[in-house]
This record gives sequence, structure tokens and C-alpha cells, in this order.
Amino acid sequence: MAMLEIKDLSIQFGGLRAVDGLSMKIEEGELYGLIGPNGAGKTTVFNLLTGVYRPTEGSIFLDGKDITGRTTEAVNRAGIARTFQNIRLFAELSVLDNVKTGLHNAYPYSTLTGILRLPKYYRIEKEMNDRALELLSVFGLADDAQTLASNLPYGAQRKLEIARAMATEPKLLLLDEPAAGMNPNETKELMETIHFIREKFKLTILLIEHDMKLVSGICEKLTVLNFGQELAQGKTSDVLNNPEVIKAYLGE
Ligand SMILES: Nc1ncnc2c1ncn2[C@@H]1O[C@H](COP(=O)(O)OP(=O)(O)O)[C@@H](O)[C@H]1O
Ligand SMILES: [Mg+2]
Repeated sequence: MAMLEIKDLSIQFGGLRAVDGLSMKIEEGELYGLIGPNGAGKTTVFNLLTGVYRPTEGSIFLDGKDITGRTTEAVNRAGIARTFQNIRLFAELSVLDNVKTGLHNAYPYSTLTGILRLPKYYRIEKEMNDRALELLSVFGLADDAQTLASNLPYGAQRKLEIARAMATEPKLLLLDEPAAGMNPNETKELMETIHFIREKFKLTILLIEHDMKLVSGICEKLTVLNFGQELAQGKTSDVLNNPEVIKAYLGE
């Protein structure tokens, strides 16, 4: 059974079918790329997967369970986390606290426990700090734990967003153009980090990119979207040699 299965997924915005009859399967452990020109519908696929939009047609299965139309919180609890094309961090919180916001699923305590500062509160706070620091160190950000998120360099902010998504302990991580705005060195380092976290956390990753060169280096499989529809799908090498794909990209 595929970890993620999308069947005939569509969404209509007025007269525009931003995603149009898309089907795809992602197996556990895969690093899968979703590529296509700007406006192809890639981010909309993420918004459909994470309950931001409800599809007009079609369904989404996670480990065989139908999650179509669930709320963002329910999808996250089911095991899907994402990052955004435009960074969304809590700018006025520290780096550490940004990651801790992602941990609250895993470490619940009641408001009363928090207000009264019961022993359980301190124990859980300690565990959350340790866990958040552990995640930050994976991304090379542990030394910046007390820095305000808004004071981090751009490339580090992008990594912090991934660390925060990882705090919710997803099995499927959705990354929306994580290298956007990064220089070639930062991009290379980020791709290595993505590889590393996949192995370390036994993750399955769906990665959006519009730069074909970038994904071809790291993704095993690709789906190419064009005007909301699948243009090609399959092993990276096959997809990149597909004449339709070459035409769409050269035509840009
Ligand atoms: N909420 C919305 N309402 C209307 N149109 C939208 C909405 N979200 C996305 N679109 C349109 O859907 C198309 C696909 O957008 P998007 O998924 O962001 O593309 P990509 O991420 O591939 O660049 C674009 O034409 C965009 O303007
Ligand atoms: Mg997009």
C-alpha cells in the first residue's frame, strides 16, 4: 500500500481548474518531486493535501485511510507536516520557541498545569527544550536557539521552518520550494540536510521545486504538473527524457 495516494484530485477556483484530475502514489521512504512551471498548481496540491482547501473532486489516502476534507490540524495529527513557499515563522519568538510551537502535539499539558506551574509543567518544559535543541542541532541551528527568528539569515530561517515542521513528528513531510532565494552553496547544503533527515527520521518527503536541475539531483521519482494536469510521472531519469517535459520546459 502506498503511503500517500491521490486519486483524480481537482479543485476549481471560479473558471480555473488549478488542479485537474491529478493522481499519484508515494511509497514509504521515497523522496518524491513535484515539479512544474510557476502557476502549474503545485502549491495548490499542498493546500489540498493539508486541508487548507477542500477538493472539488477526488480523494486523498494516507496509509490507506481516507483523509479527504479533514482539517489542517487533523491532517497534521495523522502525520503530514509542511513548510511554506513564503517563510512563515513566528518572527518575534526565539528560534527555540519556534520549534517548541511544533512540539505541543507531542507534549500536552492542561492550561491549568501551565498557569499553576505544577511539577509536571517543569518536567514537560524541560523535555520540550531538550527535544527542540536536538532538532535544532540536526539543522545546525542549536547555537542560535535564543536568537529571534527574524534575526536569522534567510537560509537559516528556511531550515528553521523545516525543523519546526519536524517537531510535529510527521511521517510525510511536504516542502514547498525550500531552496527558493538561497544561493548555490546554501541550496547544496539544504539538499544534503534533506537527505540526512530522511534517513535519520525514516521520513517520506514530497518536494516542490520549479527548478528542474535541483530536483533531478535528489528525487527518485517525479510528477510534472502543467496547467493543473499531470504532464509526466515516474522515475526521474525517464521523466527528464520525456519529450513533452522537455518541450514544456524549453517553451518557458
Ligand atoms: N485561492 C485561490 N483562488 C483563486 N486562484 C488561485 C487560488 N490559489 C491558487 N490559485 C491559482 O491557481 C493556479 C496555481 O497556483 P499555485 O498552486 O500557487 O501554482 P504553483 O505553486 O505551481 O506556482 C494559479 O493560477 C493561481 O493563481
Ligand atoms: Mg507555488
